[in-house]
Amino acid sequence: FWQRAAMLVAGLVLAACGKQPEPAPAPAPATEAAAPAPAPAQVYVVGTDAAYAPFESQDEKGEIVGFDIDVVRAIAEKAGFEVKFVNTPWEGIFNTLQQGDRDFLVSAITITDERKQTMDFSDPYFDARQLIAVRQDSTVSKFEDLKTLRVGVQTGTTGDEVVTKLQGKNSTLIKRFESTPLALQELQAGGVDAVVADNGVVENYVANNANAQFKTVSDDSFEAEQYGLAVRKGNTELLEKLNQGLAAIKSDGTYDQIYAKWFGAKPAAEAPAA
Ligand code: ARG
Repeated sequence: FWQRAAMLVAGLVLAACGKQPEPAPAPAPATEAAAPAPAPAQVYVVGTDAAYAPFESQDEKGEIVGFDIDVVRAIAEKAGFEVKFVNTPWEGIFNTLQQGDRDFLVSAITITDERKQTMDFSDPYFDARQLIAVRQDSTVSKFEDLKTLRVGVQTGTTGDEVVTKLQGKNSTLIKRFESTPLALQELQAGGVDAVVADNGVVENYVANNANAQFKTVSDDSFEAEQYGLAVRKGNTELLEKLNQGLAAIKSDGTYDQIYAKWFGAKPAAEAPAA
């Protein structure tokens, strides 16, 4: 009785306010009654070290932007999943994948045989190579010249690997930094004589920091590198989605549009096999 009375009063109050009483809520959410809703899209957490322009960086609003970000968003759209980017320091980025804190990584990551032992990579989505940055008054003309110079690298990158190979594991001349921009700032400050990092990032930095007075030195002895998206070893379900999405954006021109947005030119036609 009290319940009915309460409802009646409530109804009168609402009527007085000119509103229709809401239908009593069903005991359970009326999901069965509702039209079949589309299954919510899967959300993948994507780790990226966002200090690597133009591939991934933070804009003035702190939002993560870049070529890699656009590529992954486009892949996600084709493959029908959602993505949430999480800024993740390079040191430890692979651990976050291993531990399940990230579902996959996009971070201008070079596909290497060593890394392939602990993670799986998508098909390659970008060609890269190491490039040397020096101050404009430097006499460095080739990689070999760095053998006895102080060289800055980002810890654990392929740049670190090539310089470590050149100078030897016990070299005291290699200065390792947690980010590539920090290494480049140290070059400007005079704390190192050169920086070795991915060409796209070095070129971008030199172009946007004229005051740093850098120049670049390329060397044919640097091997060709390719970037891939990294997933946990054995996560073939996700890997297939990524590869299908990548193939789709490559074939419908989306990839070329993204490339042009960040690099200003269409990718060169694939070089004929040697
Ligand atoms: N391509 C290099 C590597 O895989 C450097 C990548 C660094 N990426 C970054 N977002 N900090 O070792």
